[in-house]
Amino acid sequence: MSLTAASNIRLRAVCSFAALPCILMDDAGARAAGPLKAVVVGSSGGVGSALVKALLQGGTCTVHALSRSAAAPPAGAQGGRIDVTDETSVAAAAQRVGDQIDLVIVASGRLQGEGMSPERSFATLDADALARSFQVNAIGPALVAKHFLPRLPKDRSASFAVLSARVGSIEDNRLGGWYGYRASKAALNMLVRSLAVELARTRPLAVCVALHPGTVDTALSRPFQRNVAKGRLFTTAHAAERLLSVIERLEPKDSGGFYAYDGTRIPF
Ligand SMILES: NC(=O)c1ccc[n+]([C@@H]2O[C@H](COP(=O)([O-])OP(=O)(O)OC[C@H]3O[C@@H](n4cnc5c(N)ncnc54)[C@H](OP(=O)(O)O)[C@@H]3O)[C@@H](O)[C@H]2O)c1
Repeated sequence: MSLTAASNIRLRAVCSFAALPCILMDDAGARAAGPLKAVVVGSSGGVGSALVKALLQGGTCTVHALSRSAAAPPAGAQGGRIDVTDETSVAAAAQRVGDQIDLVIVASGRLQGEGMSPERSFATLDADALARSFQVNAIGPALVAKHFLPRLPKDRSASFAVLSARVGSIEDNRLGGWYGYRASKAALNMLVRSLAVELARTRPLAVCVALHPGTVDTALSRPFQRNVAKGRLFTTAHAAERLLSVIERLEPKDSGGFYAYDGTRIPF
């Protein structure tokens, strides 16, 4: 059965991004096999590059690895350039990837560097640094959504997942500090919720969520790993595997939520 001929049938993907062969199944049980199209934004990062590798290992996806540097992607992936703070580059990247995208993961983000550092006190708040946090961590993913969500299929399941951070939970904030990073991730979570509400109107089978990857051993977390409890610092491969497993399990009713690497819901 051709997918385009099935616009009046609700197709459900029962494939695994990481392991199983892809099978698209409609409510009557008819099947069509085919590779999934997956996009990782921020593929040069610790978690992003591990996600690309995990998706390639599954052998079921065409993987588009997008990064600012557009460095050569791992064998098997298609590379491309994207700077989430530059809408022209986001639009061009979406155009290159094309339509019928099954999975978009936005794994870009910044905690420090390039005029930002995690603030310990309100005495150090700096307007430019705050704006930069919002530009990279909240506005950037919103622009990715603007240009990639219209390219998700309407007649079968698809996922748009953005890496947020537990410290962006307002309810969970007991330590304070990290003003720009926390606030930009909280803003990102709100953007994801609104995107999910709107997306459901045209793509009721799609899922749009914010995910917390856990504390992962990457350049981003390295300066702050001293107090991480034993066994709580994940390798990038472990984080990628957990994140893909969460994405696979989420259903349209879960869209708009904020989930940790173990699938538990994090309060906004
Ligand atoms: N590691 C953790 O413990 C942890 C915990 C909670 C949440 N997170 C979140 O998980 C995500 C991935 O973090 P990570 O640990 O993998 O960090 P990372 O290794 O520092 O990777 C961050 C990635 O974001 C990219 N990026 C930054 N600015 C960008 C821009 N303007 N346009 C496109 N890409 C841009 C970087 O590209 P360049 O290489 O070009 O700079 C890099 O690929 C982030 O959203 C982070 O906030 C991480």
